[in-house]
Amino acid sequence: MNQREVQIREVGLRDGLQMVRTILSSEQKLAWCERLVDAGVTDIEVTSFVPPKIAPQFADAVEVATGALAIDGLHAAALVPNLKGAQRAFDVGMHQVHYVLSASNEHNLKNVRRSTDESVEDFVRIAAARDELDREVTLGAGVATAFGCTIAGKVEESIVLGLVETLIEAGAQEITIADTVGYANPAQVRALMRRVLALAGTVPVACHFHDTRGLGLANVMAALDAGVRAFDASLGGLGGCPFAPNATGNINTEDTVFMLEAQGVRTGIDIGRLLAIRETVAAWLPGEPFTGAIARAGLPATFAQREAVAA
Ligand code: COA
Ligand code: ZN
Repeated sequence: MNQREVQIREVGLRDGLQMVRTILSSEQKLAWCERLVDAGVTDIEVTSFVPPKIAPQFADAVEVATGALAIDGLHAAALVPNLKGAQRAFDVGMHQVHYVLSASNEHNLKNVRRSTDESVEDFVRIAAARDELDREVTLGAGVATAFGCTIAGKVEESIVLGLVETLIEAGAQEITIADTVGYANPAQVRALMRRVLALAGTVPVACHFHDTRGLGLANVMAALDAGVRAFDASLGGLGGCPFAPNATGNINTEDTVFMLEAQGVRTGIDIGRLLAIRETVAAWLPGEPFTGAIARAGLPATFAQREAVAA
């Protein structure tokens, strides 16, 4: 296995499935996870602990989480929007739990039906519950709409930085900065991520970009420049927040891995295998908007030759 320089965290099974119409079976989701691990994707957000009424895609969260935890080599994470979700995730024994709140109070109200301040208070309770557990779990906190919001418009850097500081003080072991609606540009990403990294110190920081306006990969490059070494991405570019107007898919995993590997940044992920998984998943989800340049055009011959030499 290549030494990984950048960690790609697959969110197709969570963000990717939030808005799709077909409900996949737990078996399909677990087959997807197993094949991702075979392709070298070891960090996967496998489900979301939300009420089934709000997201029927995740009614089988416990089954999927339990199955995923039994897959060798998989570091299984789940998204949680509140204390109840976190307790469910802790009970199952997730390796990692990702809490999310929004820098935009307006989006937070739509997404989780409470103010951002109330979500911060909920996170304090979640961290306390984590501290009571008698086994290791990594509790991450994500700041959504960190670069702008379809409802509120501009989001001030100072709000995002204040939240990062508060969440770390409250016990977050990882921070994710998310461009939920594809408002970020590379200059903005470079500036904000430098400040977030300086503030976070030894706490790992990841970025979560959506490619809504075609700047997803440019934003990855800017964040990489700033020093970020972990990125969420979604197979086939599926994804989007159902509670953010005009949301579209995440950055595409295959294209992200290609961009990084093509310039010698190791991800440990096999693109050929990703493309094969994508074909299977696309057949399961007819009519969904799969994106991706590598799926369309194939890998360049020069890239394939370079891989053959390295192998
Ligand atoms: N998992 C399962 N059930 C949950 C739950 C969770 N995480 N959180 C709340 N519930 C249940 C409660 O027990 C209650 O059940 P009851 O009616 O049988 O008593 C019911 O749901 C309502 O609970 P309440 O605390 O009032 O929640 P709410 O209606 O204010 O909704 C959230 C708050 C956070 C649960 C909801 O807005 C949500 O799930 N948002 C996430 C949206 C999302 O997934 N966005 C995309 C990812 S960022
Ligand atoms: Zn997202």
